[in-house]
Amino acid sequence: MIKRYSYDPVIGTGATVREIEISVGEPLPFTLTDDGVFVYEMDGDTRVYGLGETVRGMNKRGWIYESFCSDEPFHTEDKRSLYGAHNFVLIDGEQRFGAFFDTPGRITFDIGYTDSSVMTVTPDDTQSPRLELYIITGDSLRDIVRQFRSLIGRSYTPPKWAFGYGQSRWGYVNQEDIIRCADSYRDAGIPIDMIYLDIDYMDSFKDFTVSPERFPDLKGLAAEMKRRGIRLIPIIDAAVKREEGFDVYDEGHERGYFCKDKDGGDFVVGVWPGMSVLPDFFDPEVRRWFGMKYKTLTDMGIEGFWNDMNEPALFYSEKGLDNAFKEIKDYEGKQLGALNFFGARDVFNRLANSDSDYGSFYHSSPEGRFIHRDVHNLYGSLMTRSAYEALKELRPDTEPMLFSRASYIGAHRYGGIWTGDNHSWWSHILLSMQQMPALNMCGFLFSGSDIGGFNGCCTRDLLIRWLSFAVFTPLMRNHAAAGTRSQEAFAFGDTEVFRHIITLRYRLLPYIYSEFVKAVESDDMYFRPLRFDYEDDEIAATVEDQLMVGDALMIAPVYTQNAVARHVYLPEKMIQYRMSGGEISTEELNKGWHYISVPLGDVVFFAKREITFADPVMNTSELAFN
Ligand code: GLC
Repeated sequence: MIKRYSYDPVIGTGATVREIEISVGEPLPFTLTDDGVFVYEMDGDTRVYGLGETVRGMNKRGWIYESFCSDEPFHTEDKRSLYGAHNFVLIDGEQRFGAFFDTPGRITFDIGYTDSSVMTVTPDDTQSPRLELYIITGDSLRDIVRQFRSLIGRSYTPPKWAFGYGQSRWGYVNQEDIIRCADSYRDAGIPIDMIYLDIDYMDSFKDFTVSPERFPDLKGLAAEMKRRGIRLIPIIDAAVKREEGFDVYDEGHERGYFCKDKDGGDFVVGVWPGMSVLPDFFDPEVRRWFGMKYKTLTDMGIEGFWNDMNEPALFYSEKGLDNAFKEIKDYEGKQLGALNFFGARDVFNRLANSDSDYGSFYHSSPEGRFIHRDVHNLYGSLMTRSAYEALKELRPDTEPMLFSRASYIGAHRYGGIWTGDNHSWWSHILLSMQQMPALNMCGFLFSGSDIGGFNGCCTRDLLIRWLSFAVFTPLMRNHAAAGTRSQEAFAFGDTEVFRHIITLRYRLLPYIYSEFVKAVESDDMYFRPLRFDYEDDEIAATVEDQLMVGDALMIAPVYTQNAVARHVYLPEKMIQYRMSGGEISTEELNKGWHYISVPLGDVVFFAKREITFADPVMNTSELAFN
């Protein structure tokens, strides 16, 4: 059952697709204080799931989270926000219910951080919260999620080929780099379906342009790659370079399509191309205009995109930068002791994604004019919607391959997400495992993390273990930052072990794809904590590093350096599948704890029933699966 409580919402967020009548006089499970804070007392055993893309465990209790889409390159445990704002929590205690706080502005979830037995939810404008609150009750945790998902609408399903393996790298600077990458995969016999184009393909990082020097024939390249069964997936950034003579800028500027500052001028920010402007995706006309620009690339044979920097990420604003240069002058010629030296250094560090910049520009929507800060969490989602709707218009018979960095619930109907700029750290394999079910609760099924880690340098063993987990993630993409060591599946000398693991992904695709589609169609979760399938099992409730995948599989990835075995809890009798050296063997195991040997390169997983494997292929075009 879903109950709706309405508190003078700022703007329709587009998160929900069903009209629920407002509950009048029905008791809330929360106490609403005079300060506008929602308070819930948790008993000792209460677990709290949800919140989508956040740090820390599957049970979110014990930390404080802030929904405010953030360009945050360090996903460490002390962070409160990442790129997504997914305001759904699922309380699993004496009382069981889901709560969706539908608001486009900042909102803080203190889940037993300040007081271990209290959860508080604090919207930005306390005194009088401005949001829609949905309280969902049901027969089981999974049922509550299903009902919530039916409220927010059916999740996006990408085309089949998007379930293949993809290679990305910021730093493939020209066509030759792309061809070399494709050749290396082919020569190593490693299957691949996609190669991603990062900002390097553009001319001076300008959206919807292609560098004539470095990518002189993108259309020809896309055709040649497609002949080999590989799609090229370019990046599109939110900000548009401010440059007279650049048609996208000129057109948008003339028509007043960019976000405005308080005086009505274009709000100017610094992102990859330097001084740039932000399309005002809150205006439906701008959404269509920007979305139709993707045609420049679809005309070259491109069928998929990743949308980036759409929190929106601001390195600085034009005004902020001017002020910083003025401020730094004050330090010149002075003795810089510890405090003012750090002060001087921070003059520039403080510029990025500053609260004052987020409070300095405006959106025009059919519902009125809004200061950005109040509706911040919708910006990235509206960019995804812009792209999705235009791509559907351009190619009505196909689903586009599309995913984004920033998101709000609702964007799950238009595309997937990846979990942003993680690190080549062992802890980030675990983080990714723990994020997946929380994302699924919020509708984001087509998701994955940068395999091997984005920032920092990857090692052979880390990549092997990461891939062994990512075999099961719907979005399977290896991606790395410029300047880091190569981490392609062919980069570490021996390629056989990588070939076996990635081939296993393709052999499992019939299962992965059909379970994904089933989850979409029944508003279910593809990844689930064990708790969701075994509610009467007290041990299953505490397992934080294993996942149910689809109806029949359970995975227990290795995510620690040097480990060659790990403890695995089987909530019932299961078949253990082991892929070792390309061969698959099985063994029946009883319910209970097991210490399972998992040498580097073996992929071990568990099943409630027998699984059928496809024959090995080099890409999805060779595979029939439904
Ligand atoms: C951002 C993205 C990353 C991309 C980089 C350059 O950091 O998150 O994936 O490689 O920008 O475009």
